[in-house]
Amino acid sequence: MSILKIEKLNTYYGKSHILQGVNFDLNKTGCLALLGRNGAGKSTTLRSIVNLTKPVSGKIIFNNIDLEGLSTYEIAEIGLTMVPENRGMFSSLSVLESLNIINNNNKTWNIDRVLEAFPQLKTKLNNNSISLSGGEQQMLAIGKALMTNPKLILLDEPTQGLAPNIVKELISILKNILKEKISLLIVEQNVNMALEIANQISILGKGVTKWNGSKVDFKRNISHHKEWIGI
Ligand SMILES: Nc1ncnc2c1ncn2[C@@H]1O[C@H](COP(=O)(O)OP(=O)(O)O)[C@@H](O)[C@H]1O
Ligand SMILES: [Mg+2]
Repeated sequence: MSILKIEKLNTYYGKSHILQGVNFDLNKTGCLALLGRNGAGKSTTLRSIVNLTKPVSGKIIFNNIDLEGLSTYEIAEIGLTMVPENRGMFSSLSVLESLNIINNNNKTWNIDRVLEAFPQLKTKLNNNSISLSGGEQQMLAIGKALMTNPKLILLDEPTQGLAPNIVKELISILKNILKEKISLLIVEQNVNMALEIANQISILGKGVTKWNGSKVDFKRNISHHKEWIGI
């Protein structure tokens, strides 16, 4: 069963044809890692999915719903949310204010649950979110995503700039999220991190999908993929 199916996605920035045929199919409650060199179009793919950058053609089917014509907000409302690269901090807000932007006391993920998942944030509720460490900011960004009660979270390079011990913590948090039957689509430069958590791999090279498959098949032929993933 598919949670997100992307077919022949094409996206432009002005006249630059950036995405030139992106295809993949993420299984429900699975985790797909989208790999590729710098500038391959990974962030553009995520932005296109949530309609922050409108694709020119292609199909995006989320949970059996065609996303064509839906706004970013409407897409979040049906359960697809993104943690952007800059972590989407609301810099002037405290941790509590950032989380409370979404009021959902009656839903599965509410503020108590999120703080249970990220105990570190509990002690910093009144701190300005810009004062948090990189790891804490990433946790807050994921916490905010969970507050929307998502079925699928897109994460753009969540481990970027984080110390190895924090990366480990983040991996265990993301594994727990997967156990809650939430699907994940992760863009990563850190291939080892991606391999620890993902069960599906998609490789993007110069805006074109080069390979799709299981992690097992990816590992078996890793040398074939080196050209496109920059390791
Ligand atoms: N806002 C933009 N305007 C024009 N070109 C952009 C913009 N954002 C990214 N690009 C270009 O699109 C290509 C893909 O970028 P991006 O999706 O950010 O790649 P990745 O996330 O894989 O590093 C790059 O060549 C980049 O320079
Ligand atoms: Mg990027």
